[in-house]
Amino acid sequence: MSPRVLVADRSPVTSQPLRDQLAELLGAAVAEVAWAPRELALDQLRAAVAAGRAFDVVVLDADPGLTAVAVRELAAAGGNVRVVLIAGGSDGIALAARCGASDVVMRPLSAAELAFRIAREPAGDARADKRRPRKTDIIIGTGPWIKELYDRIAMVAATDVTVAIFGESGTGKELVARTIHTSSPRHDAPFVVVNCAAIPEALLEDELFGHVRGAFTDATRDREGLLAAADTGTLFLDEIGEMPPPLQGKLLRVLQSQEFRRIGDDQDRRVDVRIVTATNRDLDQLVARGSFRQDLYYRINVFPMHIPPLRDRAEDIALLVHHFIAKHRGRLGKSIEGITPGALRRFASYDFPGNVRELENKVHQAMVVTEGPMLTEADVVLPL
Ligand SMILES: Nc1ncnc2c1ncn2[C@@H]1O[C@H](COP(=O)(O)OP(=O)(O)O)[C@@H](O)[C@H]1O
Ligand SMILES: [Mg+2]
Repeated sequence: MSPRVLVADRSPVTSQPLRDQLAELLGAAVAEVAWAPRELALDQLRAAVAAGRAFDVVVLDADPGLTAVAVRELAAAGGNVRVVLIAGGSDGIALAARCGASDVVMRPLSAAELAFRIAREPAGDARADKRRPRKTDIIIGTGPWIKELYDRIAMVAATDVTVAIFGESGTGKELVARTIHTSSPRHDAPFVVVNCAAIPEALLEDELFGHVRGAFTDATRDREGLLAAADTGTLFLDEIGEMPPPLQGKLLRVLQSQEFRRIGDDQDRRVDVRIVTATNRDLDQLVARGSFRQDLYYRINVFPMHIPPLRDRAEDIALLVHHFIAKHRGRLGKSIEGITPGALRRFASYDFPGNVRELENKVHQAMVVTEGPMLTEADVVLPL
């Protein structure tokens, strides 16, 4: 099937608009080449998705002002449409890697190369470099909330500001944290995840801060903690509301002075980390109850982001379902193309207490059991 291509061009005053160049170069290789100025491309992509005629590829120029966040926002607006960048220098290649663009084409443009890059299937996850954003890491959504979210990610990405992400379980908090990291100047350094609720209280201090040899009976050698592992990168503290009070004090110190002490050490260490936290708890309430330190709350809550539950944004369900079908079909080895309107209505009428994670699981289950190219009502199993 020949792809439908949207060219998001910089400005109408370019001597020869990119669209005309591409239309000429691509000829019969594509079904349609549409054009929109960059500022209107988002609306065009969303409108096409809403009309059931989503674009397959967006082509845009990696000019110096273009940011990774802007590229991702385009991909999300188009229902995870493939993005092909046109680059004149090494900046463009770096940008493409950083924002998870499907491909990058170098100037001077060659018709054959462009046609090839635009028509080819996206590379699978297996080949992707672990540190680079996977294409499936894109945050999908269509309402005003996602615009606001991308705006806020763009605001903080370039800084080291501490970010606090609030939202129910499964709403995408970790995905947002990862996106902040991969959009930041720290993107080549590690992104380290610590789930404060999953690690037993007695081990959490050791996990985070490490120890010196002899600090306790089993400490037969020095151990660097995860904080040190995140040096120059980003530390994501998930379920921060579950952090035990003694550790809250140690974390506060890291936030205030970038200093900490390993268990049993008599020296302080310095660390350069950007901290992003997440919680599904009401921290105000935990503070009022005395189980969360108020001073720490102020420190982590410098730049809050709130992610709405899926039941408040049912308009995202269709986009997400298609995104998850594309995400999982390769590994299942099934050529599933889509979903029937009836099956989609079933998803849309359920309230998803487990949010996007639950939707992803249900789509995956339906894909496992389905026998045809479309997910049908019978494939969708939801609790009553
Ligand atoms: N808006 C979204 N677009 C695409 N995938 C999403 C979105 N929100 C969540 N997901 C996916 O749903 C799953 C759960 O998200 P996660 O970030 O772990 O949620 P949380 O940390 O809030 O519990 C992950 O596989 C994630 O990639
Ligand atoms: Mg999580």
